[in-house]
Amino acid sequence: MEGRTVSQSRVQLAQLMQPEHANNHGNVHGGWIMKLVDEAGALACMRHARRRVVTVAVDQMMFHQPIRIGDLVTLTAEVSYVGRTSMEAQIRVEAENIVTGEKVHTNTAYCVYVALDDEGHPTTVPPLIPENDEERQRMEAGRRRQAYRLQQSRKERS
Ligand SMILES: CC(C)(COP(=O)(O)OP(=O)(O)OC[C@H]1O[C@@H](n2cnc3c(N)ncnc32)[C@H](O)[C@@H]1OP(=O)(O)O)[C@@H](O)C(=O)NCCC(=O)NCCS
Repeated sequence: MEGRTVSQSRVQLAQLMQPEHANNHGNVHGGWIMKLVDEAGALACMRHARRRVVTVAVDQMMFHQPIRIGDLVTLTAEVSYVGRTSMEAQIRVEAENIVTGEKVHTNTAYCVYVALDDEGHPTTVPPLIPENDEERQRMEAGRRRQAYRLQQSRKERS
């Protein structure tokens, strides 16, 4: 199967945070961001595999900065590692105050998706072709994260 580069499947989503996205404190509810993170990661992996995917794992998510209503949230999702049927996406979230232009990196998340064939069974995905040292290092880090997830999953199931 022919490989694909990280840039071939990169996805950027942008959404204006509106009052319906607020929590009780008037900032953005973390659950909205988690949903957008999952969507952006899934889209990058669907582009990589040209298959539908399901989410199999979401790593811990930390929010370093609050996001305000009225901010433009931008999510950049890239495939960071692929296994046989699974793909890890790195999703970087930034919030921009549209009036001042100030941008903050609020969090980076890692999610894993599995590509499904037409019968809904896991199916092989194209190899990931790193184009620079940063992507190569990220792939290696992804391989380690995936090994850790599988170890945790085995523990959880035993
Ligand atoms: C994803 C799913 C189809 C995988 O089925 P499965 O029988 O575990 O299939 P496999 O054992 O062949 O695993 C498929 C891939 O997922 C990976 N995987 C399985 N469990 C994992 C976990 N906890 N974390 C990370 N990857 C995992 C496997 O390593 C394998 O990857 P590889 O082919 O690259 O080596 C199945 O677990 C499922 O349907 N889960 C629910 C998905 C879903 O509904 N998501 C939305 C939640 S609301």
